[in-house]
Amino acid sequence: MKNIKAIIFDAYGTLFDVNSAAEKCKDKIGNKWETFANYWRTTQLEYTWLRSLMKRHKDFWQITEDSLDKSMSVFKIDNSMRDELLDLYKILSPFEEVPKVLKSLKEKNFKLAILSNGTPSLLNELVSSNNLNNLFDDIFSIEEVGVFKPDSKVYDIPVKKYKIEKNEVAFLSANTWDVSGGGNYGYNSIWVNRSNNIFDKLDYQPKLEIKNLIDLLPKIDTK
Ligand code: LAC
Repeated sequence: MKNIKAIIFDAYGTLFDVNSAAEKCKDKIGNKWETFANYWRTTQLEYTWLRSLMKRHKDFWQITEDSLDKSMSVFKIDNSMRDELLDLYKILSPFEEVPKVLKSLKEKNFKLAILSNGTPSLLNELVSSNNLNNLFDDIFSIEEVGVFKPDSKVYDIPVKKYKIEKNEVAFLSANTWDVSGGGNYGYNSIWVNRSNNIFDKLDYQPKLEIKNLIDLLPKIDTK
């Protein structure tokens, strides 16, 4: 991949492990912790798409709370777990390789940014609680445009800010629909296929498929 000026990362699921909040409570939740975590994540995403279509925007934190409430009812999880799960969601762990790969990319002088559904304060806390603050040039939140991914207005944010072409962006996401959204917009979308999934049928095939961020290093260049 050549002529890349900016490498833009999705946050949730790509840099940070969305299941890590429920996983840290698995002793209390029991064996269903992973099905519950997946249900919470799916509901959260559905709420972003539905709210965008209904033009009834609420921020990502409110949606995270609302989707947790529904998921806890569905899985009959005691309400005493609510605050703990939400607190843990604010400090989700990054995937293991993330810090060292970001450092290597930074040394190669790429512009590095996050582009996420998260609110600015959520994203700042996530990045600083994991000591990743100095690695990003920018943290872009969809709150700037008031609509969630995959609306093109979202993917437009870094292109406008950096005054670059869409195809000078390498966009990385582990979320297939976000890879399609960015690719549909005109990014070079890279699929971080962390769990051996099947790609969507949404008129876009990723420019590159990698298993984790380490695989990106030999495949990307500024020239
Ligand atoms: C985000 C979600 C989509 O960070 O993972 O934008």
